[in-house]
Amino acid sequence: MEEIKFHQANITQLEIKNVLNILNSGWLTTGPIVKKFENNFLKLFKKKFYCSAVNSCTSGLFLALKSIGIGKNDEVITTDLTFTSTVSSIYHCGAKPIIVDIDSNTFNISFESIKKKITKKTKCIIVVHYAGLPADIEKIYRYAKKRNIKVIEDAAHCLPTLFKGNYIGENYSDATVFSFYATKTLTTGEGGLVLSKNKKIIDYIKLNSLHGINKNTYDRYIKIKKNSKYDVINAGYKFNLTDLSASIGLAQLKLLKKNYLLRKKIAQIYFKYLKHHLIELPKKDDFEKKNSWHLFVIKVTKSKKKTRDGLVKHLINKKIGTSIHYVPIHRHSFWKKKLKISNKNFPNTEKAYNEILSLPIYPNLKKVQVKRIIKEIINYLN
Ligand SMILES: Cc1ncc(COP(=O)(O)O)c(C=O)c1O
Repeated sequence: MEEIKFHQANITQLEIKNVLNILNSGWLTTGPIVKKFENNFLKLFKKKFYCSAVNSCTSGLFLALKSIGIGKNDEVITTDLTFTSTVSSIYHCGAKPIIVDIDSNTFNISFESIKKKITKKTKCIIVVHYAGLPADIEKIYRYAKKRNIKVIEDAAHCLPTLFKGNYIGENYSDATVFSFYATKTLTTGEGGLVLSKNKKIIDYIKLNSLHGINKNTYDRYIKIKKNSKYDVINAGYKFNLTDLSASIGLAQLKLLKKNYLLRKKIAQIYFKYLKHHLIELPKKDDFEKKNSWHLFVIKVTKSKKKTRDGLVKHLINKKIGTSIHYVPIHRHSFWKKKLKISNKNFPNTEKAYNEILSLPIYPNLKKVQVKRIIKEIINYLN
């Protein structure tokens, strides 16, 4: 029986050629290829933006929060259904993460729950667009702006998510952070990028992702005519993306649309054939919100004999990989203790957690494989 992995990166000869060029070039770390990648990334957006590539979405979120002055005594609101780093980035700034429940229809952060948690200490809201489906970002941003609260988008799942015809990040936040982690829709192996209209935010991130040094390393070592002296003007971090990684990103940017269409096609097959009374499918695209289809998350309604966990076991036996996004923040021992939160505070996430299942969806997944996944799900549920 052929194994169907939950995820497999789509690497073409273009990525391989780009990496070989870097290996042969004599310059492996941050330099001209990162710059080129940043410039090409900015071409996705209609308005004038600035951006800084970093070594992960996690470090990008952290620096974005620092750049807007988040620190001790501040509160930052975010969703319960996310990866731990959305929350740890707040925690490492010295601020208090305020975790709120999700909207059970979309799995995105609940606007009503946000409103209940606003205090004088609320300085920022981090909005995650779960699985690639846009959250109610316009509503949240307008509400936050009136109260002088900043909004950062955790766009780890969002290439290319569209809200009202524009890419996520275009209109409704102070900064947007993307992930180029190995499983993401655009990968550099590990990597991330912060996008903002505010040059000060990006200047802060550029400076502090490379030690707080006022001159970049490439200029110091390679441009011989330039003065190689430098000054440390802040106690920065080591969060830079390398040219090696950016060279993969350059190729992946070229394939962004093609890979999106291939994932969309897989989503359409799931929509067409995955039909069962115990299964609920994700929200379909509509005029306003278009999913990137980074994840295809189904809900398995518990019945007397059938459960989500039973389905996972069945699929493992059939050599089909799946995943659960995510174990909610309130269920992790560290956050539970540190933030004094429990199941009772998050009825929607708690329910979702027992029902959600992420199915394989990636460009090189074949139609026959998708059909086999569907067949095995139906076999189990019947
Ligand atoms: C919603 C969300 N935010 C942040 C991250 C962190 O991304 P990275 O691994 O690039 O730091 C992830 C990674 O899976 C994620 O899913």
